Amino acid sequence: MKTQLENIYKNAAQDLEKASSISDIEEIRGKYLSRKGEFNEIKKGLKDLSDADKRIIGSLANEITRKLEDALKSKYDEFYKKELNEKLEKEKLDVTLPGKFTPVGHTHPITSTTNEIVSIFQTLGFSVVSDELSPEVETEYYNFDMLNVPKDHPARDVQDTFYTKLAKNVVLRSQTSGAQIHAMEGKNPPIRVISPGRVYRNENINARKNNFFHQIEGLYVDKGITFGDLKGVLNEFIRIYFGASRPTRFRSSFFPFTEPSAEVDVQCIMCEGKGCRTCSGTGWLEILGAGMVDPNVLRGVGIDPDVYSGFAFGMGIERLAMLKYAIDDIRLFFNDDVRFLEQF
Ligand code: PHE
Repeated sequence: MKTQLENIYKNAAQDLEKASSISDIEEIRGKYLSRKGEFNEIKKGLKDLSDADKRIIGSLANEITRKLEDALKSKYDEFYKKELNEKLEKEKLDVTLPGKFTPVGHTHPITSTTNEIVSIFQTLGFSVVSDELSPEVETEYYNFDMLNVPKDHPARDVQDTFYTKLAKNVVLRSQTSGAQIHAMEGKNPPIRVISPGRVYRNENINARKNNFFHQIEGLYVDKGITFGDLKGVLNEFIRIYFGASRPTRFRSSFFPFTEPSAEVDVQCIMCEGKGCRTCSGTGWLEILGAGMVDPNVLRGVGIDPDVYSGFAFGMGIERLAMLKYAIDDIRLFFNDDVRFLEQF
């Protein structure tokens, strides 16, 4: 047994001599020192020896395994250092190299214009409705029916409105006015809200029209709200957004859900009112539609028009951005050209 032990040690020492990496060392450790290793096999035979032999062979076995362990350990340390150094050398960092340039993104002009308009109305006491009250995929019920739009109104035509295949009567909203109905349904005045969002129209795309764009809807319903309140709020908004010197005008108009109705124009900033291509020679550009909420609409959502009145308005965000920044083509907002977007 003694020679057996010595032979095993000799073999192990030879193996260790040949080892060239940490994983070789682990292999040797497994082969000789693990529970199933060669030394353990020998130690199992100890029980058949006499007590005296047991002591001699046992201590020899312990001595040899300890020796082997020490040898493994020092080789291990040696390889560990070597491999670590190689790794450090390979992964060396040159902290003086210039960094990679990552361009910083910024807010899209439609988003920043929306934020600006929203914050102006917030200072005037309006709050933004939650997203659930302002869905982009809408039923005809909210987009048209409840807004007093007759069944045969041309806006309902597929040439103007996108119908989905989700179900009959489900449309991509053509205006944010449906948010008025969502905001009033099941609630009691006072209601003073705005709702920004995207709308879709089946248009031929050109410099002035895109088949989707953005609007902000506003609604104020309470006792004793008059057309004077409507004019006051909108004039104040225009004064803050465009500055006091920009001429504006109210023009009477028609919408099925407001009576009376008006449209608001601001003087064309491209030509200062002289008349140009952008304003089709009129000197004015329309920025919003508005009016007193039609009694039929109030009745539809269970608000008594003999007690309450209100006004509503809807403005085109692209239009407002174009006017402020003198942009003459609406398509610039949508084709993601960073040379354009970077300017904002
Ligand atoms: N929804 C109308 C449009 O898209 C604008 C509007 C909103 C008019 C609210 C009156 C009241 O043109």
